[in-house]
Amino acid sequence: MRQSFVSILTAIFLPAFLAAQNAPAPAAKAPAAAMPHLQKNGVVTQMMVDGKPFIMLAGELHNSSASSTAYMQPIWKKLEALNLNTVVGTASWELVEPEEGKFDFALLDSEIRDARRHNMRLALIWFATWKNANASYVPLWVKKDTQRFPRVQNKAGVNQESLTPLGEASLAADSKAFRVLMRHIREFDPQHTVILMQVENESGQLGDSRDRSPLAESAWNKPVPAELMNYLQKNKADLLPEVTKVWGVNGFKTSGTWPEVFGTDAYADEIFQAWYVGRYIGKVAEAGKAELPIPMYANAWLVQSDGQLPGGYPSGGPVSRVMNIWRAAAPQLDLFAPDIYLPDFQGVCNSFTRSGNLLFIPEARASVPNLFYAIGQHAALGYSPFGIEDLNEDNPLAGAYKALGGAIPAIAKAQSEGKVVVALQGTEASQTVSLGGYKMTISFGGGRRGPQTPPPAQAPQAAPAGYGLILNTAPDEFVFLGTGISASFAADSPGPKIAVIGTVDEGRFAQGVWIPGRRLNGDEGGGRVQMRGPGIGILKVKVYRHD
Ligand code: DGJ
Repeated sequence: MRQSFVSILTAIFLPAFLAAQNAPAPAAKAPAAAMPHLQKNGVVTQMMVDGKPFIMLAGELHNSSASSTAYMQPIWKKLEALNLNTVVGTASWELVEPEEGKFDFALLDSEIRDARRHNMRLALIWFATWKNANASYVPLWVKKDTQRFPRVQNKAGVNQESLTPLGEASLAADSKAFRVLMRHIREFDPQHTVILMQVENESGQLGDSRDRSPLAESAWNKPVPAELMNYLQKNKADLLPEVTKVWGVNGFKTSGTWPEVFGTDAYADEIFQAWYVGRYIGKVAEAGKAELPIPMYANAWLVQSDGQLPGGYPSGGPVSRVMNIWRAAAPQLDLFAPDIYLPDFQGVCNSFTRSGNLLFIPEARASVPNLFYAIGQHAALGYSPFGIEDLNEDNPLAGAYKALGGAIPAIAKAQSEGKVVVALQGTEASQTVSLGGYKMTISFGGGRRGPQTPPPAQAPQAAPAGYGLILNTAPDEFVFLGTGISASFAADSPGPKIAVIGTVDEGRFAQGVWIPGRRLNGDEGGGRVQMRGPGIGILKVKVYRHD
């Protein structure tokens, strides 16, 4: 009897197939998550988490909260109610390495586990050699050994409560601890709950413009390192004006001791201090990145007022005026971040995005308009009010994080295409913006019933009542996220002259997918974009043109 071709194949392969079916299944392996990284997408650079653009809608914990797992329990619930997708948490050298060479990661592990459980990512602050220009977070065995871990000294030769950035043993010990920490995170956290590291906290020196310890004095009178001189020469045309000014004092010398090249005033001292603090923190970051190369940054205590001298704020910290020096000293760091408690939030963002620095705001006061500004104007990687556990869930930030959280894919796409604008109520009753071939007039205060009286000119810092992010999501299609604004359209590209709002849908985004709600027409908004609140609304608007 002739066997069919199929039955021959069946006879050969079926036993093997059945055997394979009965074999024990190989252990299920979680797919390795993509490494968090920064990536240029279109016209912006974005934080990539799980291979997708991510905006950190974050909050920073009070300094001591994460030092107790029990203390944190009610806080996690609160953070969830505030709709955070990222917590800026802490890991401190004193708790991670309480005895030299003996590491304890129990606290950190529960911080990571709890973040996962509440569906949040972590940006972790490494509190070590510097915490607000002080060394309060170094372990006791470091604090006590001032010989091995030398201190900053004042002009009278008195040891201060901070470590000199020129102490090589301090650098080695801090780097080693950070390296072991990052190795542990690599092993414990393959799913990358931890996406970002802040290396140290508000570094620099208070009370004087530079360190006067014997190590520092000796370095001060040695030649400026060739790496810095080469960097300045290579980038001379693009240096920040503040750096150009200090370098120009002695005629842009390309070699010599620090006072020979930069002079002897407080700003020369600041450049010296920035080089050594930056070099130290860059090397700590390098040690950590050797184990887990996720993005890392340093944060700055800002210059508090025009003309304040270095030392009034921490001299040598990564303030925007010395960012060039930090970039030369610490190429291992991905960005420098401002802690913004000053009223001029926008001015600080503008100064920190000079020379291509990416914006992340690890500390600020909670302000939804400022959040919108950072994301809409500067494609900020994230925004993080300090002391986040103090906010209640009825804080406007909770609603803003909810609205923005679902819309991250849409916002990120529009950012990469350069198709986002931000509207913020200031002293004007309206603002005109160009987007997607249209000129939009954004009025503040809710629209048809007439714009609110603008705030008086003498109070320009008053928090805006109206604000919005406007995304051009497709030709003739716009998404408005905001409150207290209305918008009208005019043609701003060749074609039919009259621009009209065709349809307006309210809705929301869930993981980037648009979920429409009501079609707003008739009394609720036929042909109008109106966002009266309360809270942040989301509208999808289609516009058409005719003659
Ligand atoms: C700035 C610091 O970086 C934070 O750790 C915290 O101490 C705040 N100041 C307190 O306002």
